[in-house]
Amino acid sequence: MKPIFIRNASQLVTLSGSSDSPRTGKQMGELNIIENGSVWVENGLIAMVGTHEEVLQAYESRLHEARIVDATGKLVTPGLVDPHTHLVHSGTRENEFNMRLRGATYMEIMNNGGGIHASTRATQQATHEQLFEESFERLQRFLLHGVTTVEAKSGYGLTLEHEIKQLEVAHELSAKHPIDLVHTFMGAHAVPRQYKENPDEFVDIVINEMIPEIAKRKLAEFNDVFCERGVFTPEQTRRILEAGKEYGLIPKIHADEIEPYEGAELSASIGAISADHLLRASEKGISMMAEKGVIAVLLPGTAFFLMADSADGRRMIDAGVPVALSTDCNPGSSPTVSLPFIMNLGCLKMGMSPAEVLTAATINAAHAINRGHEVGSLEKGKKADITIFDVPNYMVLQYKYGVNHVDSVIKAGKLVVDGGKLVWNNTHIHN
Ligand code: NIG
Ligand code: FE
Repeated sequence: MKPIFIRNASQLVTLSGSSDSPRTGKQMGELNIIENGSVWVENGLIAMVGTHEEVLQAYESRLHEARIVDATGKLVTPGLVDPHTHLVHSGTRENEFNMRLRGATYMEIMNNGGGIHASTRATQQATHEQLFEESFERLQRFLLHGVTTVEAKSGYGLTLEHEIKQLEVAHELSAKHPIDLVHTFMGAHAVPRQYKENPDEFVDIVINEMIPEIAKRKLAEFNDVFCERGVFTPEQTRRILEAGKEYGLIPKIHADEIEPYEGAELSASIGAISADHLLRASEKGISMMAEKGVIAVLLPGTAFFLMADSADGRRMIDAGVPVALSTDCNPGSSPTVSLPFIMNLGCLKMGMSPAEVLTAATINAAHAINRGHEVGSLEKGKKADITIFDVPNYMVLQYKYGVNHVDSVIKAGKLVVDGGKLVWNNTHIHN
């Protein structure tokens, strides 16, 4: 692989110095920008970051070896990290979208056998190959939006066989696509209809049959539960997450999304790495998260698409909670791959600053999936995951909202998007 010399960015956002822990409070607004910055990339890693003069001087004698990527007038950032998706699924639910536009609620649709149940039926019926194809296409679009690492949850299988299928598809995608996937088991995403009268029976299956087998096959690092009134109670959530811990699975929670349910409190008391959604999190829950350093993964695209009030990102940052942002990419509550648009919503709907949303979608997102040492900032020795935007500074990325500004993407030292087009294989999708 040829070295890559990214030259002369108008702004090079390094976000350096936070590989050990996520940024909190005022630090979330500090990007450690180098004006007229350049990067030397070699063997898949970042070899040097500095001003154009510094990098040029260090590597002048080797310029002829390198592929030169001119970033004059452009913004260079760490590759974006999406720490919460339901990437692997089959089918779409635009019919439910239409019902919601006419007044039906998300939970009503789910309680009538639609929602997660509808996507579960479609995903159970799909073959491994079909799921791979559908999800591969989504990953291509993630890459075009500047995203280089994606967390992917199971949870549309809801039987051991189909949960394994979903996770195996995710592993194959990670091996075959440039984007790195991080794997989460979410067998407790919904109570299957046949256990409706006896949900604890299903909780026992998750604990006694699914978790041990998923762990044995090393299919996941994290364990997530949809803790919500009418889905899994805080007590059931605790049992499932404690059982996962015994097998080395790190807890995450879909918390306080639709109703306040003490999910934030639970995330802190159980030692979760993140609590996600948090639209209705309590003051007490937020301060407990701040104290324990639980990362708030906020999903303003879901609030937007469900026509609900967003989580109070501003309040959480001010309370000292490390905040990350994610698409929640899924067929029901957020069918998008545009993490840049989610960042726009972070500013416009949650009172976050343009600097804070960039921190939230890079280094803090990396920490939310235990990848803070590998990705999320541009520093010597880290993986060369780099996104180049065709804007002169990071504020314009938020100001000119709803537009895909991605010009190029370098993933593990390889140019995979160039001039807004995928260049790593022969697919014809482009911006
Ligand atoms: O994060 N809330 C639960 N799970 C997903 C939605 C899944 C679906 O509707 O298919 C979420 O919003
Ligand atoms: Fe989700």
